[in-house]
Amino acid sequence: MYGFFEKLVACEACRELSPLQIIDTSRVFLDSWNQQKAQARVSVAVGFIRTEIDRSLCQEGFALSKKELDIVASEVSVCTKCPLWKSREKAVPGVGNPEARTMFIGEAPGRSEDVKGEPFVGAAGKLLDTLLSQIGLSREQVFITNVVKCRPPANRQPKPVEIETCTPYLNRQILIIQPEFIVTLGSHSTAYIFSKTTLPFSSITQVRGKPHKATILGVPRTVFPTFHPASALYNQEHEKILEQDFQLLKTELRNTH
Ligand code: URA
Ligand code: SF4
Repeated sequence: MYGFFEKLVACEACRELSPLQIIDTSRVFLDSWNQQKAQARVSVAVGFIRTEIDRSLCQEGFALSKKELDIVASEVSVCTKCPLWKSREKAVPGVGNPEARTMFIGEAPGRSEDVKGEPFVGAAGKLLDTLLSQIGLSREQVFITNVVKCRPPANRQPKPVEIETCTPYLNRQILIIQPEFIVTLGSHSTAYIFSKTTLPFSSITQVRGKPHKATILGVPRTVFPTFHPASALYNQEHEKILEQDFQLLKTELRNTH
């Protein structure tokens, strides 16, 4: 016996959309036992309604996540919600594995990223690739994105209102990928992710280099803040610290598997 289950995704992440807007409807075939189990997982919270199908029950989990991420990326690519769209060449939604266990969040695209439409492809990106390979990770295994998806002019810092306007996209990416670990690169992404928790954020120097367990967008996760790789380009001390932090992250990833 097979039944089908409608997968609805609508959540706090789309706060400017109607709370019940269905951004994707997919039929997932489940045997009746699994269907009962899946139904038991339907979760409803205030302003947040998501029919949650345990991805382990769903053979098509990877394809569904990919499809949902593609929807976010296509919205980002034509987004005009904040003024940053005016000066961008290409928006930079993010790249990587739709079912990544670990998500890396930077600040905002720079010049090279704006040209290519991909995050961390300039000098800071080269360093990020090295740091990842030093702990045995590839870009294909993780998901890499930024707090703000379009390049701020002259690489200035993103403004609070731009972060506020853009982060519903990041929230949706987190809800789709469901990463166990969120590695925040630099103070902007750390401050934003901490603002989604009850953890106090003092400064990146205070909180970096250690795992912080917290509930983010309704799910318990581990936040692991470290410096932004760009800061290591002009500060050798930061490069050493980044290498050490990535080794700690490797241990953490291994210990919790
Ligand atoms: N710096 C960031 O924060 N993100 C990028 O994608 C590139 C540089
Ligand atoms: Fe839209 Fe974000 Fe780009 Fe602003 S930065 S235009 S909110 S995608």
